[in-house]
Amino acid sequence: MSTPRPVLVVDFGAQYAQLIARRVREAKVYSEIVPHSMPVAEMLAKDPAAIILSGGPSSVYEPGAPQVDAKLFDAGVPVLGICYGFQAMAQALGGTVAHTGQREFGGTTLAVRPGASVLLHDLPAELSVWMSHGDCVTGAPAGFAVTAGSPGAPVAAFEDVAGRRAGVQFHPEVAHTAHGQAMLTRFLYDIAGIEPTWTMGNIIDDQVAAIREKVGDKEVICALSGGVDSAVAAALVHKAVGDQLTCVFVDHGLLRAGEAEQVEQDYVAATGIKLKVVDAAGRFLAALDGVTDPEAKRKIIGREFIRVFEAAAREVAAAGDVEFLVQGTLYPDVVESGGGTGTANIKSHHNVGGLPEDLKFALVEPLRTLFKDEVRQLGLSLGLPEAMVWRHPFPGPGLAIRIIGAVSAERLAVLRAADLIARTELTAAGLDRDVWQFPVVLLADVRSVGVQGDGRTYGHPVVLRPVSSEDAMTADWSRLPYDLIARISTRITNEVPEVNRVVLDVTSKPPGTIEWE
Ligand code: XMP
Repeated sequence: MSTPRPVLVVDFGAQYAQLIARRVREAKVYSEIVPHSMPVAEMLAKDPAAIILSGGPSSVYEPGAPQVDAKLFDAGVPVLGICYGFQAMAQALGGTVAHTGQREFGGTTLAVRPGASVLLHDLPAELSVWMSHGDCVTGAPAGFAVTAGSPGAPVAAFEDVAGRRAGVQFHPEVAHTAHGQAMLTRFLYDIAGIEPTWTMGNIIDDQVAAIREKVGDKEVICALSGGVDSAVAAALVHKAVGDQLTCVFVDHGLLRAGEAEQVEQDYVAATGIKLKVVDAAGRFLAALDGVTDPEAKRKIIGREFIRVFEAAAREVAAAGDVEFLVQGTLYPDVVESGGGTGTANIKSHHNVGGLPEDLKFALVEPLRTLFKDEVRQLGLSLGLPEAMVWRHPFPGPGLAIRIIGAVSAERLAVLRAADLIARTELTAAGLDRDVWQFPVVLLADVRSVGVQGDGRTYGHPVVLRPVSSEDAMTADWSRLPYDLIARISTRITNEVPEVNRVVLDVTSKPPGTIEWE
């Protein structure tokens, strides 16, 4: 595969490595994250175009703090040290790092020294930057010019342009640092001399070539969930091998209004993909009958999904030589699972084990190097429907875990109607992209008294759960405008007769989870 030479982001254990890798890619340069424990020889074997040392523990003097092997600086590869990486770099190259007792956390004013800095070229003399450090560099290594300072860090930036090395005490990758992206691009383009060639067009060309080479003339199968990852992965594979790909869409009857049609009609129209639809709604409903425990629901849905998909896969396999299964694994999954290669089991978005032994496939994972925002751009470049590309994350077990209580066709219809109103109004307010997810939850076993028209009602509440998040690990409740919430509430109680009360969930995660079940 012709992936370009990577910029390696060495992860020292803080949460910044992924952000740095994304920012590098925003500069149209391919990046990969590697653990700091990777031996230097292994890093160099990747033929990196540059190496960025990320933030990490607050002190290089902390017991067990990871060190930087000085050999890394002998290879002639351009290096940028950030925060902890800056201190570790200073120390490894013979500079001095001191416990000054002066800690800086948060926004700090950086004073750029007049003179010839490449990294800070043409930026204002004073900049607001994001700091997070206890120790600081007090003496730059020989050959480095000090280019900026801050109240708590006399040496807040240094560079050795001839040696293609630079470092900063602050975090250029975070939005709170003014001109941070400009500094990163100056390192990449002007110090490391890298060309910005990591573009959507090139990503598609590279992946198409790689998929063709891997798949050859064999058949490929893919399970579509309605979500963006599987949709984009399948579209990419289809672009590479056309009708050698068959997609299977198991309609479990637990999707939201219009979503099954989006897959069966809009997606097929946009891509020309060969799609096998299995309408399994009745089977899932029967299996879920009377089940109230959320984990039991998840297990049943996972089990049924595997059974239905397996049967469909056998039918497809009977018609041809199916060797490959497409999965929409993304780069954050790869990084978080330690970069392992994965096995030929169906993705655990249904939280289940794998396919039976005799139905194992080799995996095609064309999104393994991509972040979510890149997958969305790729989807748009491949001409997928906007509604699908921008769809909010949605759980594999679908509306079944948004009905508190047993699932039934009637309850699903009630929740679908309420959910559609909430989604429609959010979209009309232009706020889709400000919200990470907007679950609507039906408290099917709860009733409360209301008054509608002239009569007393005894209906169900629905909960609105709009959240803001970066990665679903933590979340905060979204401060949606009150008039929007009022519109949603009025419409739901007017248009969905079974619902007589709408409540707003104002719990962050933790302690609450995003989903109610
Ligand atoms: P929680 O509720 O744990 O959700 O805060 C975190 C993210 O995961 C999604 N989610 C699920 N996804 N199967 C899935 O495929 C599940 O059983 C499941 N439960 C939660 C949730 O929508 C959110 O994005």
